[in-house]
Amino acid sequence: MEDKTQYIFALLGLLASLYFIYWKADPLYNIPAIGPSAPILSYLGAYRYYYHGRQVLREGYRKYKVFRVPMLDRWVVVVSGADMNEELRKLPDTHVSLAQAVNEFIHSKYTVAPDITDHPIHTAVIRGPLTRNLNLLFPDVVDEMKTAFPEVMPLPTHDGEWVAISVRNTMAYIVSRVSNRVFVGLPLCRDPKFLDTLVEYALSVSKARDILNVMPGRVRGIVGNVLPWVKRATRHASVCIQPMAQERLQRLQNAGDGHGDKPHDYLTWLIEETQKAKLSPDFVVQGILASNPLPFTQRAIITHALFNLAAHTQYMQPLREEVEDIIKEHGWTYNAINEMWKLDSFMRESQRLGVNSGVSLIRKALLDITLSDGTYIPKGTLIVAAAFATHTDKTYYENAEAFVPFRFYDMRAENGTLGMQFVNTSKDYPAFGHGKHACPGRFFVAHELKAMMAYIILHYDVKLEDGASRPEDVWVWHDIIPANTKVLFRKRQSKVE
Ligand code: HEM
Ligand SMILES: *[C@@H]1O[C@H](CO)[C@@H](O)[C@H](O)[C@H]1NC(C)=O
Ligand SMILES: *[C@@H]1O[C@H](CO)[C@@H](O)[C@H](O)[C@H]1NC(C)=O
Repeated sequence: MEDKTQYIFALLGLLASLYFIYWKADPLYNIPAIGPSAPILSYLGAYRYYYHGRQVLREGYRKYKVFRVPMLDRWVVVVSGADMNEELRKLPDTHVSLAQAVNEFIHSKYTVAPDITDHPIHTAVIRGPLTRNLNLLFPDVVDEMKTAFPEVMPLPTHDGEWVAISVRNTMAYIVSRVSNRVFVGLPLCRDPKFLDTLVEYALSVSKARDILNVMPGRVRGIVGNVLPWVKRATRHASVCIQPMAQERLQRLQNAGDGHGDKPHDYLTWLIEETQKAKLSPDFVVQGILASNPLPFTQRAIITHALFNLAAHTQYMQPLREEVEDIIKEHGWTYNAINEMWKLDSFMRESQRLGVNSGVSLIRKALLDITLSDGTYIPKGTLIVAAAFATHTDKTYYENAEAFVPFRFYDMRAENGTLGMQFVNTSKDYPAFGHGKHACPGRFFVAHELKAMMAYIILHYDVKLEDGASRPEDVWVWHDIIPANTKVLFRKRQSKVE
């Protein structure tokens, strides 16, 4: 009996020392961890990061230039402050990869589209022809928005009656319709079956990611391959998109042979990219899916903005005056949207505090790297910037925790300070990333979201439910999700003098 106990203790001792050696040998061991670092115990830290990501990141940001936080399957290395952000974004593509990091965080291969990480044809289109042609595409954005709002948010027949609207879901639907007006055009962008497929698909990305995140590496591939959602979305989307793609292909060929004009739209640009990459034209379906707004992008940003407007109704009047004057002068043009400096500042400030993720500039180390402060980052590590903590650091922003909607307007108008527009990235504003890989979709996003906000500002009054305060954002790991709270809307009552 006694002997057996001894063996058990000996075995436990051996296991403990093996763990200790393993843990000491972990090359990340020298980087300070937030929470317990030992094996098993680190799961407690992961639990805390899951529920209290904001506090964990803030704690690390205050204490260290470089630190690590535990997720279920790995440590993630986080850098603090604008200068480290700058260093991270300057690391060359030979040393780090954004696409590989995204793939590790959301398992794009199984959640977004199987081949898009290796062949990001949509990135080339967004960076090139989409952004170049935004002013030509903008009338479509406006037309779709003007059609979608009255349909999706009908005004009550009784004047002055308030209706409670689930902002997040409603905006998701309108953003999807408006974006797809540009991606696939009429009539498909209004087809309820197509839109349902996209909404379901967007939600499934987070769902599938959450499932795959708790799988050990080897099992992940097997489970990833049997998850039904991407396959179903691809099948449904193919039925709608393939005939259109065939037609574009035909027209491209005809134009090449000197018969007719070359089509000029998103689908055609995607096809041209597949041709450059020597891929089958079927590939465009993946390109369309990968271009579509995910839950943590446009819908989140405009929901934050609407919560802020409803919680600070005193800003409605100055915004209305600006939007109304500019629309009166220019109409709903691309340039009109660029003239709306106050609205632009309002959106930038909303995104400063309601950035879509607490971390940005996410990168995977492709080689061993040593950072300027001497921190050694082994190959394979995920490195990120503490975006939210940077955005709320009083070194960079006066009154950093407060929502000051016209702070960027004031800098731009009174001082001529450059780089303060919604689309501008910087080392202390990495919401859209920064540098070479900064979000190429942000010019499209900024015009789309500002147009939608301008429409709301002109047509509706908004307020929170009686006695409510601005809904708290929900943090899941480092993702920041606006609450699914309803906001009251009514037909606009006052006219601006
Ligand atoms: C509010 C909405 C959005 C936000 C907050 C956002 C944010 C970001 C961020 C943080 C990055 C990484 C940048 C870096 O690490 O330097 C990124 C990359 C990217 N975004 Fe966006 N994005 C948004 C919407 C969109 C949309 C609508 C599109 C497509 C039309 C898009 C296309 C891309 C692409 C293709 C990349 C990868 C760029 C590369 O690989 O170099 N994004 N985005
Ligand atoms: C104007 O610019 C200076 C330096 O460029 C800066 O210190 C100051 O805070 C700015 N003022 C405003 C209102 O942004
Ligand atoms: C800010 O964005 C505008 C619009 O794209 C661009 O013209 C300007 O050069 C940017 N400024 C900085 C400092 O990045």
